[in-house]
Amino acid sequence: MLLNLVTPLHESTKRDYQARILDNKVEAMTEARKFEENYWDGPRRYGYGGYAYDGRWESVARGLVDRYDLKAGDNVLDIGCGKGYLLYELQRLQPKLTLIGIDRSAHAIANPHPDFKGVLLRRQIQHGLPNFRDETFALVLSLGTLHNLTLSELWRTLPEIQRVGKRGYIMVESFRSEAEWFNLVAWCLTAETLMRPEDWQFLFDKTGYTGDHEFVYFA
Ligand SMILES: C[S@@+](CC[C@H](N)C(=O)[O-])C[C@H]1O[C@@H](n2cnc3c(N)ncnc32)[C@H](O)[C@@H]1O
Repeated sequence: MLLNLVTPLHESTKRDYQARILDNKVEAMTEARKFEENYWDGPRRYGYGGYAYDGRWESVARGLVDRYDLKAGDNVLDIGCGKGYLLYELQRLQPKLTLIGIDRSAHAIANPHPDFKGVLLRRQIQHGLPNFRDETFALVLSLGTLHNLTLSELWRTLPEIQRVGKRGYIMVESFRSEAEWFNLVAWCLTAETLMRPEDWQFLFDKTGYTGDHEFVYFA
């Protein structure tokens, strides 16, 4: 099912596409793709421009608890969890969830909210999830992360997400028009796979991913 949980948050951010494309973008992309301190807490041209907890994920977390009926004892996995702030919001709403995040960034997983009680692991998702049995998780999330994989990596990863989760929710960046393609290319620093929604759907179908999804656009 197509969801609309992150789009309101995404649309509330201002972005100067022209300025970014003119600002030595290849150097900025090269640094951003390390996904380390500069990407999170360095200058805005490398990524977040300073990412401290500000509660912005609360509405998304509420939407997840409602849609997936998350209850005490359920396990939730967030792939590309960053600093784990969405997982922390889930913890605030339902303290008895078991919360696991994986991310390739050492800097991100070393800097969760101090009260977060779940587990953040350093992994690259394209290497699979061999430590988790089939249907370990009530919900597997991956927000803003999978477009950073190549097509062959996605081909291996989507079946893993399907395997370990009873439900799934994937959000990726996409485009529907020339203008959105241009803005996305101008803005994004780390994305490898830029596809229209119908091509993401084609890939979901071909890899057997049947969970939910959402696309964000750069209008
Ligand atoms: C745009 S951030 C999204 C973070 C968080 N999910 C959110 O929505 O705020 C992309 C995240 O994907 C992580 N990431 C990128 N490539 C990855 C990979 N191959 N395996 C695991 N994590 C990856 C980055 O370190 C970063 O935390």
